[in-house]
Amino acid sequence: MAEARPFHWEYQEPPIQREAFRVEGGLPLSGAVSVSGSKNASLKLLAAATLTGERCRFTNVPEIADVQVMVDVLRDLGVVVDHPAPNTYEVAAGDVDWLFVPLEAAAKMRASFILLGPLLARFGRVIISNPGGDRIGRRPVDLHVNAMKRLGARIDYRNGYYFAESPGRLRGAEVAFPGVTVMGTENAMLAATLADGHTTIRPAAREPEVDDLILFLQAMGADVERTAAETIEVEGKRRLRGADHRVIADRIEAGTFIVAAAMTGGEITLRDAPAANLGAFLEVLARVGVEVACEGDGIRVRGAGMNGGYVATDIETAPYPGLATDLQPPMAVLLSRAAGRSRIHEAIFEDRLEWLNDLREMGARVRIEDDHHAIIEGPTPLHGAELKMSDLRAGASLILAALAAHGHSLIHGAHQVRRGYENIERKFQDLGARITHVSEG
Ligand code: UD1
Repeated sequence: MAEARPFHWEYQEPPIQREAFRVEGGLPLSGAVSVSGSKNASLKLLAAATLTGERCRFTNVPEIADVQVMVDVLRDLGVVVDHPAPNTYEVAAGDVDWLFVPLEAAAKMRASFILLGPLLARFGRVIISNPGGDRIGRRPVDLHVNAMKRLGARIDYRNGYYFAESPGRLRGAEVAFPGVTVMGTENAMLAATLADGHTTIRPAAREPEVDDLILFLQAMGADVERTAAETIEVEGKRRLRGADHRVIADRIEAGTFIVAAAMTGGEITLRDAPAANLGAFLEVLARVGVEVACEGDGIRVRGAGMNGGYVATDIETAPYPGLATDLQPPMAVLLSRAAGRSRIHEAIFEDRLEWLNDLREMGARVRIEDDHHAIIEGPTPLHGAELKMSDLRAGASLILAALAAHGHSLIHGAHQVRRGYENIERKFQDLGARITHVSEG
């Protein structure tokens, strides 16, 4: 493999625009809000466009920081990415001369690892940073790497980078995962579309964003299909063509706004809402007692009021069609309003409950039992606080709590929600919320 240009051995955190949200809570939200395109679908679709040299066009792409990171990474590779109109991106990966995804990209966004499969399949080699760094156990990528090896790639790991190569085309194979992995499924599927022969992926993640990616790959001429609930089969092709695609709606953003209505006792209508992809979440809301009506591509939510009226329930996250782990934090906020004891079982990740300490700062009665279990006793009135967002979903959930709390909150680390929510304060303002962002230099 050709030697890469020198790495940035001494990695320094890129400067972050410091920003906070100031929220005055206690106002019921009402009105209509449009749901943006899915973050998790968009990132994979943009990466998938590198499977061909022809132009691909995506509409309904959310204008969020993670999309910008993916665009920047693609441009660094030599891919042409145009942005002819808001929410529209065009990608042409004709001349890719630099098959290197640096630590800067991986550190900003773990999903940059989705470039492993397509770049390896199309160009036969790539050097890509390990997004977990050397923090073994937290957010590993071993399943992605093993899947590529099954498809015939040689992969060495040195100094925080995976050096992947495939002397000829990748070879179709049986890819068996020990459990469900969303991006692992997607990476294997993307690589298999250009491999020689037949690939079976099992268990294949069933998340709607995976099926959105399948639709785009089919439009590119790929022979890929979900042949059973947990099986995806691919017959590799020598080349794929450019295609257009409209990104599906973001079910996590939709869930966030639904909880906002429920928490503040308002009445909100979500437009372009993916109700069909929110089954488990809507089922929990029904148990808790939130009034939700799905009509066409709209969802109408009527909250019970600031003073509660909700019933405690136990929740457990699971791969789709189970309750999404990304909706666990918003749901936890809601459960602080429900009468009785709710148990949370976070079954997917081991670092998704720590943020509940922040919710406790706002008055919630929370006990974190271990990395996967917590108990919330409600209902408790929440009060404003000064807090810092620890990640994207926890950050959005702190905003939800602040919107329903008595008094003011100052929530630092706004860049966390910018990663995944388009224009979040504008959308909340349009619903009557008092939320503004303040620059912190
Ligand atoms: C995707 C989503 C994320 C969501 C998650 C679960 C994107 C960009 N992100 O993340 O928002 O919360 O699905 O629905 O689409 N694992 C390994 N080794 C691996 C890969 C995963 O052990 O190589 C483990 C993970 O630590 C986790 C489990 O498998 O415990 C499932 O993770 P996975 O489905 O892979 O999550 P992502 O695809 O990274």
